[in-house]
Amino acid sequence: MTQVIDGKLIAEDVLTGVKKATSELVATTGIIPGIAVVIVGEDPASQVYVASKGRKARECGFHSVQHTLDETTSEEDLVALVESLNADEAIHGILVQLPLPKHIDAARIIQTISPDKDVDGFNFINVGKIGTGEVETAFVPCTPAGSMIMIERIHGRDLSGLNAVVVGRSNIVGKPMANLLLAANATVTIAHSRTKDLPALCRTADILVAAVGRPQMVKGDWVKPGATVIDVGINRIPAPEKGEGKTRLVGDVDYPEAAKVAGAITPVPGGVGPMTIAMLMANTLKSAYRTAG
Ligand code: GUN
Repeated sequence: MTQVIDGKLIAEDVLTGVKKATSELVATTGIIPGIAVVIVGEDPASQVYVASKGRKARECGFHSVQHTLDETTSEEDLVALVESLNADEAIHGILVQLPLPKHIDAARIIQTISPDKDVDGFNFINVGKIGTGEVETAFVPCTPAGSMIMIERIHGRDLSGLNAVVVGRSNIVGKPMANLLLAANATVTIAHSRTKDLPALCRTADILVAAVGRPQMVKGDWVKPGATVIDVGINRIPAPEKGEGKTRLVGDVDYPEAAKVAGAITPVPGGVGPMTIAMLMANTLKSAYRTAG
């Protein structure tokens, strides 16, 4: 029987721990974990993500602020805002929602965020720590961190002898995911749009991570029987069966097909998505604890 990896349930576990540790931190030091989420422009998907991050932060007992900036905001103004948040003692985590408008250099903004408040784990310092195996002291990007917890529930912490294939080489998911799998002793291959015979490569994977942003791209016959499939994709596709103009969320994996073959699989929605937000809260708490010494 295929095991459906319930991201909502595992995320609730993580959040229960975060809430408890937050109460302890507040009680013993008076420090309230603070997160600032910055959104530029009106991308509807980003607005939904940002609202749910704020809501979860408040549920955890955090101080949560959102900065909503106009689409036309200049790069200099955004740099100035990030610098003011870097200096703000009430803020332990800063997240600038991506993508940013085209006229803003996202790489510059990411590097402006203090590595000590970089709860997304995108800053060079944190990327470098993960790349050199210093995972414990780094802020690990939230989606790969959440995916690793799900993999751990199936395989434990040591992935020695297991083949992992990560489809997608983004800085946000694919590359850090590959580094975390490597740090856990898996044998890792990163596949991408230029990879030859992707289906055959995917069939070698004991752990298959799909992070490409293409709806239902990974088919059932790409999955090795019994493999663990982690679907990072969140894609909105038309759903005429629900009525005209309606849509539904699907992952990068063709779930009905893959679920017949996999040993364990994450659904969309209710898989990696809830884990990402939970890990953002965990990273913010970690940052607040660090300031307590
Ligand atoms: N946009 C999509 N995913 C993410 C993420 O994990 N962090 C940020 N900052 N923006 C995103």
